[in-house]
Amino acid sequence: MEIDAAEFVISVGHPSQILADGLPEVAFVGRSNVGKSSLLNVLLNRKNLAKTSNTPGKTRSLNYYRVNSALYLVDFPGYGYARRTYGEQKRWAGIIDGYLNNQATLRGIVHLLDARHDPTAQDLEMIRWMQYAQKPFLAVLTKVDKLSGSQLKPRLDRTGAILREFEDLRFLPFSAKSGRGKKELWKWIQETI
Ligand code: GTP
Ligand code: MG
Repeated sequence: MEIDAAEFVISVGHPSQILADGLPEVAFVGRSNVGKSSLLNVLLNRKNLAKTSNTPGKTRSLNYYRVNSALYLVDFPGYGYARRTYGEQKRWAGIIDGYLNNQATLRGIVHLLDARHDPTAQDLEMIRWMQYAQKPFLAVLTKVDKLSGSQLKPRLDRTGAILREFEDLRFLPFSAKSGRGKKELWKWIQETI
């Protein structure tokens, strides 16, 4: 995908602010620190458009990035961040639920999982939740650069076995460091929107 323009548009912290201008959207979800913002920067060929950090929980609302006046990539707040208050978590769940079930322009969901570890119970619960939306769904295994050549295949096999409970679930190895998976991910996004 040629990126002619990529810009941050809005940070949505309340359901009433969710955009409704008709452009297709693809959502990026996953636990805190899994690499959502880093992946978006790689997709958009930008170093720091989406703010990344070593401090989990940096992204706290739905952040919209518009690409070529043609689509939005939506960066979700990471889950699994223990230091959020109960009130914050509830507010978060409400926004996400409203978004998943009411946003007709949502064309697909990309769910990021850390390639180095087994998906957590919360990851699996999230995948189930996301799949209620019945949208095209892709699992992306991030940070594969942190695995050696000999570690990678057994890790991917194991993750594949765990994800087998989800029928037709595709997954894609990705690295924000090397750019591995970028082309395949853009292909999926273009086919999906
Ligand atoms: P929240 O906004 O807190 O939900 O986190 P996030 O999912 O947006 O993660 P972010 O992109 O901020 O990345 C978290 C940390 O992981 C940063 O220190 C990144 O540099 C690092 N990181 C992300 N992706 C990769 C990757 O593919 N390879 C390596 N080696 N590090 C990565
Ligand atoms: Mg982030």
